[in-house]
Amino acid sequence: MRSDPLRYLSDEIDNLKSQGLYRRLRILDGEQKAHASFDHRSVVNLSSNNYLGLTTHPKLRERALDATRTLGVGSGSVRTIAGTMSIHMELERRLADFKRTEATVVFQSGFAANAGTVSSVLGKDDLIVSDELNHASIIDGARLSRATIKVFPHRDATAARAIVRELPRDRRRLIITDGVFSMDGDLGALPELCDVADEFGCIMMVDDAHASGVFGKNGRGTVDHFGLHGRVDIQVGTLSKAIGALGGYVAGSNALIEFLHHRARPFLFSTSHPPAVAAACLAAIDVLETEPALIERLWENTHFFKSGLQALGFNTGASESPITPVIVGDAALAMKLSDALFQEGVFAQGIGFPTVARDKARVRTIVTATHTRDELQFALDCFGKVGRSLGVI
Ligand SMILES: Cc1ncc(COP(=O)(O)O)c(C=O)c1O
Repeated sequence: MRSDPLRYLSDEIDNLKSQGLYRRLRILDGEQKAHASFDHRSVVNLSSNNYLGLTTHPKLRERALDATRTLGVGSGSVRTIAGTMSIHMELERRLADFKRTEATVVFQSGFAANAGTVSSVLGKDDLIVSDELNHASIIDGARLSRATIKVFPHRDATAARAIVRELPRDRRRLIITDGVFSMDGDLGALPELCDVADEFGCIMMVDDAHASGVFGKNGRGTVDHFGLHGRVDIQVGTLSKAIGALGGYVAGSNALIEFLHHRARPFLFSTSHPPAVAAACLAAIDVLETEPALIERLWENTHFFKSGLQALGFNTGASESPITPVIVGDAALAMKLSDALFQEGVFAQGIGFPTVARDKARVRTIVTATHTRDELQFALDCFGKVGRSLGVI
């Protein structure tokens, strides 16, 4: 009989189980909404990135259905062969206007946008100066580029400057940060890092996945929020979170975008979005521009919920965004807290190593514009009850 060459994977999984880190996938029974059914249990959903509730917005749904009727379900090719549809070009023009840059290019996901851009813009003789908590897609892109990677402590622009000062000026140097950090909800040191980039002639890049649709005028992101237009060479945004659909994009100069058309591997070697996705994203930009009340409500809910968690005595870290972590330290305790909340009717995912540091396990919460006050108060009451019973507060 053939022995199982993948046996070590089962051993790894047993390991995760013994450390309390094993997670079963929760199954969403219906639509992705503020109140939803997961695993056949009706819960207040604090785990999605659906900041503005656009996953089920009627305008997006209609445009997607219409595009499917008129354009079909798939693009049938990669962008560089036969898969560039006029609706893809229309979306990229709209995004460029929205971001106030010369051009944009859309990728299949935010992950592909980051990894494909960093790995193609930089090469083995170059240097990347990266915040220690940057997203995995940046880290993977940096590794694929084969550039030398220098990591600075989280949000420490002084340390970044000290690193950059020592780097040879005749090499290409990229400074890169998340706009909003996905596990902590704090903002990157963007203004200070832009100063360093300007002073030393570095390329400046921001990953605005969690800032798209959330920060800046009409959700234009952190560059707009901080008034840094023209100082960030490469902006990545996502269409998968607040925009409610799927995809990522890079915004920047015409030269950057044309270069990515020729060199970014996810653009060259993976099929483009179905027309329904592009259509939904176009409708989402309309919504961002015409329904600012959604973003206002997101921020009202954020302040209400964050201050409620703090008043209960939870450690919410340094969050400045709708992402509010409840940091408990031990991974098994975070998973227990998450499970107990779920039993009470609140879905807030437990997160442990390797997504966050070993001693910084947490339950992560994200409120949306579409949560009602009653739902948020219910969630706070559950957090209080479960937090006390587990000795977290
Ligand atoms: C900071 C950050 N960047 C990029 C991504 C990837 O975006 P997408 O989900 O569109 O692939 C994520 C999503 O998890 C993220 O949190």
